[in-house]
Amino acid sequence: MEFSNFGERFRGRIGIGELMDDLGRALDGDRPMLMLGGGNPSHIPAVQALFRKRMEEILAQPGEFERTIGDYDTPQGCRRFIEALAQLFRKEFGWDIGPQNIALTNGSQNSFFFLFNLFAGRHAGRRRKRILLPLTPEYIGYADVGLEGDIFRAVRPEIVRLDESVFKYRVDFRHVSIGADIGAVCVSRPTNPTGNVLADEEIDELRRRTARAGVPLILDNAYGTPFPNIIYEDVRPVWDPNTIVCMSLSKFGLPALRTGIVVAAPEIIRVISRMTAVMSLAPVSLGAALALELARSGEIVRVSREIIRPFYERKARRALAQLKAEMAGLPFAVHKPEGALFLWLWFEGLPIRCEELYERLKARGVLVVPGHYFFPGGRDDWPHCHECIRVTYAQDDAVVERGLAIIADEVRKVWQRRA
Ligand SMILES: Cc1ncc(COP(=O)(O)O)c(C=O)c1O
Repeated sequence: MEFSNFGERFRGRIGIGELMDDLGRALDGDRPMLMLGGGNPSHIPAVQALFRKRMEEILAQPGEFERTIGDYDTPQGCRRFIEALAQLFRKEFGWDIGPQNIALTNGSQNSFFFLFNLFAGRHAGRRRKRILLPLTPEYIGYADVGLEGDIFRAVRPEIVRLDESVFKYRVDFRHVSIGADIGAVCVSRPTNPTGNVLADEEIDELRRRTARAGVPLILDNAYGTPFPNIIYEDVRPVWDPNTIVCMSLSKFGLPALRTGIVVAAPEIIRVISRMTAVMSLAPVSLGAALALELARSGEIVRVSREIIRPFYERKARRALAQLKAEMAGLPFAVHKPEGALFLWLWFEGLPIRCEELYERLKARGVLVVPGHYFFPGGRDDWPHCHECIRVTYAQDDAVVERGLAIIADEVRKVWQRRA
């Protein structure tokens, strides 16, 4: 059957699609798998209890459930929730915004599809523009959203060794130039897959450079403050009319309800809302309905600070300590876990590529994500791209513990066979 160019993009190779299929097949197989691969948040009982209670309240109020499921919202999304968010951001951060600065989407993956295609691709006068990723590795979900093929220009980071087994990436500003071919700059903070959190100075420098170049800075805040606040560094959240902050209720515990939040200048919010109208008429309402009172009361901030962040921080510490002990004596380093749900492991000089390590671990019942997927727009000639893997610590402690032990054992075997 003949497809359009648009259709052919989805018939061809899509990295994330193949990986998800492969993970799915492994899970459907006969043997149980230790799932250290996915990006699912933990089921935190105290947070789930809050949503259960809110759902019960909706069910108990006459007509409330019927209204919640029976009406389309406007394409911009639930007005009451947007107003509550605007007030929350004004109060928490002093941002000068109102409801005209916020749109809801069907998950921030949706937001990135809209925003990247809004700023990258062919512009008037046939100029082609790209999204600049000033620090890769970067979120795998960006990779294939461009309707006009490869839309990224990526910059390799500087690698800073913090101690013998911990390192950190920093933006290498010598290579961050925002020329006429760049339509927007985007960073996730905290970063999936590495757990990196860009320092305030790095963000300030990116703001200066994007403002000077007249292009927006897109900040992917899927794990950031004020919710879900899976961020272990004290950094300053920023917004200004040249910044687009993307948030989500997914890592706050509602990934199934597909609720993304875009904070931007009104001109951008209007376009995003129209895109939602064309793609899906309106965003899903249920996430906003379950989170409305939490946002109005500010509870969403307290829950994030007092429950969600400590929950993940404890798991990160535990996983890191185990990893350091298991890997003792091996050439190994881990990115400093500063937020998000992941540890990013670097096996410098490993005699096999991360793709092969992934296969070997899968054969031993552990699913991870090989690191080469996280270099959208990058060139394949940097060995580092093939020396890393991502593991999540959001799973139960016992699963993480067994998984990390097997990873360390397999890496040791690889080195021993080489010797
Ligand atoms: C950095 C980052 N951005 C965006 C997303 C997309 O989240 P959602 O579409 O569930 O809001 C994810 C999901 O894992 C992520 O890790």
